[in-house]
Amino acid sequence: MSTIDRPPITPQQYEVLHGGGAEAAEIARQRLSRRRFLRRSMLAIWGLSTAASVGGALYMLYPGLSTGFGGQQTVGSKADFPAEIPAQSKLNEKGVFRVPAARAYIVHLSKDTKFLLNEQNLADQLDAETFVRDKDGTYWVALYQRCVHLGCTVPFRDDCASFKCPCHGSHYNVDGEFIDGPAPRSLDRFQMSFNGDQVVVNTGAINDKVPHPDATTLLIPAPTVACSAGG
Ligand code: FES
Repeated sequence: MSTIDRPPITPQQYEVLHGGGAEAAEIARQRLSRRRFLRRSMLAIWGLSTAASVGGALYMLYPGLSTGFGGQQTVGSKADFPAEIPAQSKLNEKGVFRVPAARAYIVHLSKDTKFLLNEQNLADQLDAETFVRDKDGTYWVALYQRCVHLGCTVPFRDDCASFKCPCHGSHYNVDGEFIDGPAPRSLDRFQMSFNGDQVVVNTGAINDKVPHPDATTLLIPAPTVACSAGG
């Protein structure tokens, strides 16, 4: 039996134990309790470390299993997010979709979207803004819902064909590009990818470096409809 199983006893306890009686029985009972406690603690530690190892191995093998905010999230199939051109996007119907669990908007722009840039300039800017070009010619981007001014959740406004922050009025186009207001940059965006026909957003990989666009970087024009402060 190990020293862990057998805690030391005092000389007084030794005498009582060997003398028998109720006091001896109580000491024996306490020693037994301590042994049980130590065994159970060791089993609990072993169980926790085993669970952590198995969890880590599963994550390495299947990173899509991580579902919380800050990890990879499978947010639906491509068919759940029909594409649309910017001006005709409607929240949760076509073009732009809110996914609360990922704190994100999935924006899916039609292949008929008229971009202001061409060829390599367009490809470079899409990369810089974390767009994914799908094999059917459509364009995807996953926008973080948090306003980059002071952190309010930014709603998409069908009446504005754009995002308008209710807190201080920052205004962003449907692709997250800054239009006007106090925000210091365009909306942040998450990495996204496809697993077969499933749409996967990596909420742990954020691009928070999309500056205000200028004439050389602007992807799509601002909407022509006026956007009031209310909504
Ligand atoms: S938090 Fe959005 S404009 Fe200030």
